[in-house]
Amino acid sequence: MDPEYLTGIDEIDTQHKEIEEVAAAVIEAVEARDKWHIVHYIVVRLYELLRFHFTVEEAMMRITGFPEIEEHKRVHREMLTTVERMKSATLDPNLGEDSDILKKQFSFLSHIVDHDKRLAEFMVANVSHLKK
Ligand SMILES: [Fe+2]
Ligand SMILES: [Fe+2]
Repeated sequence: MDPEYLTGIDEIDTQHKEIEEVAAAVIEAVEARDKWHIVHYIVVRLYELLRFHFTVEEAMMRITGFPEIEEHKRVHREMLTTVERMKSATLDPNLGEDSDILKKQFSFLSHIVDHDKRLAEFMVANVSHLKK
């Protein structure tokens, strides 16, 4: 994982790594034109990981008084909606035929933790035991 996205909170960084790995697995499965049920299974796993992760992150933002919480939550909602749509799209048994379109749609997954950069900066600056 790109070190600039590390929050300094092990729990969050571990979750981000797992999310990145599963997102990469989705992209790989689409590129390899894997069968729809394989792609679907990985997307469902990604969705569950994200839902749990966003709940943890939002609780952490409330506890520490992160000032941009509403905007951050909006991004979380958008991502979940997108991944929810992917879940439905991957139920189509003809998935393989549209793999170029899917590849384009799924490309945002490789940047799924980018938006946490400001949260990471806030955590390191304001949570005393994380201060450098
Ligand atoms: Fe995150
Ligand atoms: Fe986030």
